[in-house]
Amino acid sequence: MNIKKAFFLLPLLAVAACSSEPKVVGLKDALEGKFKIGYAINAQQINHLVPKADSLTLIHFDCLEPENCLKSEEIHPAKDVWNWELADKYVDYCTENGLDCYGHCLIWHSQCPKWIWQNEDGSDCTPEQLKANMQDHIYTTVGRYKGRIKGWDVVNEAIMEDGSFRNSPFYRILGEEYLYLAFQYAHEADPDLELYYNDYNMHFVEKNKTVVKFVKELQARGLRIDAVGFQGHIGLDYPDLAVWEQNMKNIGDLGLKVAVTELDMSALPTLSMTADVGSVINGTIDRSTPEGQELYSRVVPYPDGKLPQEVSDRWNARFIEVFDLLLRNHEIVDRVNVWGLTDGDSWKNGFPVQVEGRIDFPLLFDRNYEQKPVVDWIIANADKY
Ligand code: GLA
Repeated sequence: MNIKKAFFLLPLLAVAACSSEPKVVGLKDALEGKFKIGYAINAQQINHLVPKADSLTLIHFDCLEPENCLKSEEIHPAKDVWNWELADKYVDYCTENGLDCYGHCLIWHSQCPKWIWQNEDGSDCTPEQLKANMQDHIYTTVGRYKGRIKGWDVVNEAIMEDGSFRNSPFYRILGEEYLYLAFQYAHEADPDLELYYNDYNMHFVEKNKTVVKFVKELQARGLRIDAVGFQGHIGLDYPDLAVWEQNMKNIGDLGLKVAVTELDMSALPTLSMTADVGSVINGTIDRSTPEGQELYSRVVPYPDGKLPQEVSDRWNARFIEVFDLLLRNHEIVDRVNVWGLTDGDSWKNGFPVQVEGRIDFPLLFDRNYEQKPVVDWIIANADKY
């Protein structure tokens, strides 16, 4: 064990040595033999600035993915500029603690620096130039962590809910070919690497059909793909879990695994992007009219920052249903990653809209690092599946 690891394990080891209490059973122990469980780690946590997060990580998780530090805009902001510092620390964090390390993500239209697909004058680069830029980005990034990162989200969010391909710069310049090229380059860079396609709203049937078609085409071309990532940003009233489950089975039928890569469940009412979110101006809501007050109560339903018990019960009951679904399908589900450790860490506090007083409660641990009832349920019930 290296010094760094021993140092941050010290409090836990001390508890074990000084008390006769049985070992704490974590999520990863309860889920052993079913699927791996991880979370998206942020920069502060990677830097060991949150001791409580370090402890929870060791107790509960056996894998991690990074929230942001491996995205192209972070590590490769300009053609000849690479920032590896935080990414290296993330991979070290996993290695030092024996956690499976996942990479997110190689090719994505968002959080992507424009130079990859744009000339200096702002016009699209040529198909040949884009191929060369993608190849350089993928070869260098995958190559750096060869043998240490177990699998990468090779392409993120390329398919729309209606089943069409997203008209991203990658698609505009190379058409569907960019997807096949990305998988080819990743495999060339590390033949042992697991390769994934990752997307949100995977309960949309037309989207799922296109993913299935795309996977079949990859397979027909002899290219590697190991799993499809179902991001899993869900809410109290969506998706229909039966449809979600069927769409997972459709992926399993192709001989692939499913990874639930970005699981979080908003506890707030679902907002309409146009009527609700569109009416918030610069993060504020004018409450001088009855309509404004009504909008405010929808956008900031719990201004005192407390989730009512009834909503919390509903949230836990639905999250238990989600884990019941995943456990029933553990033959195809390879891994579940929640998108953040505690409610306080979640991107959902600012999405789909940021308004003072609006906070969300979407994760397995609350703002005080306390586990929610769904965690107790998983620990008590996972072995029944
Ligand atoms: C998508 C991306 C993630 C992250 C979330 C929001 O799902 O795949 O990397 O940016 O959005 O936090």
